[in-house]
Amino acid sequence: METMVLSGLALALALPSLALENGLARTPPMGWMSWERFRCNVDCQADPHNCISEQLFLEMADRLAEDGWRDLGYEYINIDDCWSAKQRDAAGQLVPDPKRFPSGIKALADYVHARGLKLGIYGDLGIFTCGGYPGTMLEHVKQDAQTFAAWGVDMLKLDGCYSSAEEQAKGYPEMARALNATGRPIVYSCSWPAYQGGLPPKVNYTLLAEICNLWRNWDDIQDSWDSVLSIVDWFFTNQDVLQPAAGPGHWNDPDMLIIGNFGLSYEQSRSQMALWTVMAAPLLMSTDLRTISPSAKEILQNRLMIQINQDPLGIQGRRIVKEKSHIEVFLRPLSQAASALVFFSRRTDMPFRYTTSLAKLHFPEDAVYEVQDVYVGKIIGALKTADNFSVVINPSGVVMWYLRPMALPVQPWHVVRQQAPGEGFHPALV
Ligand code: GLA
Repeated sequence: METMVLSGLALALALPSLALENGLARTPPMGWMSWERFRCNVDCQADPHNCISEQLFLEMADRLAEDGWRDLGYEYINIDDCWSAKQRDAAGQLVPDPKRFPSGIKALADYVHARGLKLGIYGDLGIFTCGGYPGTMLEHVKQDAQTFAAWGVDMLKLDGCYSSAEEQAKGYPEMARALNATGRPIVYSCSWPAYQGGLPPKVNYTLLAEICNLWRNWDDIQDSWDSVLSIVDWFFTNQDVLQPAAGPGHWNDPDMLIIGNFGLSYEQSRSQMALWTVMAAPLLMSTDLRTISPSAKEILQNRLMIQINQDPLGIQGRRIVKEKSHIEVFLRPLSQAASALVFFSRRTDMPFRYTTSLAKLHFPEDAVYEVQDVYVGKIIGALKTADNFSVVINPSGVVMWYLRPMALPVQPWHVVRQQAPGEGFHPALV
C-alpha cells in the first residue's frame, strides 16, 4: 500500500532488482531422482532395464502413481545427467539422446503429467555436464530455459561442473530470470553453493533464497552410511549459517535419499529419513521403485514423517544436544506450537537408554505435551516439561517424537526462540 504514493522512479528503486518468488516449493519438493541409483548408465544394450532411457522414467512414473507415492506427495520425477545427445542440434538446441529417448522429452512430460506427476530435468552451467554431456554456457541460458519450458518441464537442477566462479555468479541469477521469463512455473534447483564450498563469504544465502527454490550446499551422497554421516556432520556443524537460510520457497538440499539401496541398514535408513525431515530437506528418493523392499517403502511412506517434513511453517531444525555418550538430539519447530524431536545414537555397541526431560531440551516451563512416536505410532499422553523420560535408541538408529501441546504457557516460545536468524540454541552438554 505504501508503494502507491511513491513516484515511478522511487518505486523502481524500492523494488528488489531480483526476486524469485515464483510461488513454488512452499514446502520441500518430494519425488524421485535418477542419479544416485542409476548414475550415468547409458548402456541400454547390456542393461536395458536400468539404463538412462525414457523406459526407466516411464516405469518409475507408473510406480510413483500406482504404489501410493504420488498421493503422499512424491510428485516430481527428475531426470539427472546423461539424458542428452552428445551434441546440440543445428539450431543450437539441447536434444535428448535419440536412441534412449526416441519419443522426446515433451512426450515423457505428457505421460508424467497425465499421471498427476511433474517432470524435472538436469542441466549444467558450464562447458559440459559433470558426465561430459553438453553444458549450458552463458550464451545458451535463455535458449535452454525456453526449450525446457516448451517441453513442459516443471523443475530444473542446474549443476556447476566446468564453469568458473565468475561464470556461476552470472549464470545462476541469469537462469532464474530466464526461467521466470518463460512464464512456465519451473522449480529451480541450484548447485552453485556446492561448487563454492557451501559457506560464506563465498556463498551468499540471502541471494540464493532470492533466485533459487533449493540448492545443493555440499558433496554428493553415495550409497553408504559414511556418506550419510559426513553430510549430517557438515550440515549440523554449519547449522548457524544454513538453518536461517531455509524457508517456504527456498531450501537447503543435503542430496537424495538412498533408502532402499545397498548401503544402509534398516536403522540407518530410518535415521536418514528422520534427519532429512528435521532438516526440512527435499525428499528426493533415488532407488529402484520397481523392486523396493516393504521395509524401505514403509520408512519412505510414513505419513506422520511426511507431514512433519512438509510442515507449512518450513522452519529447518537444529541439533540441540551433543552428548559425550554419542547421543545427539535434534529439534524442529512445527506449526501450531508442535515440535519434532529426533534422538540419534552414534554408538556402535548396543541399544542405549537415554534419559532426559523436555526441560533439559529447552522446552518452556509448565507445558504439557501429547507425544507420538513417529515410527512406532504409539501415543504417550501428557508429558510435562519437568518429567524425566527415557528412550532406547539402537546403534546408528533414531527414536523420533512428534509433540503436540496439550497445555501451553502464553508465549509461542518455539517461534520466538528459533526463527530469529543466527540465534542459536546453546547445546546442553549433560
Ligand atoms: C554432480 C551432481 C550430482 C549428479 C552428477 C551428474 O556430481 O552433484 O548430483 O547430478 O553431477 O553427473
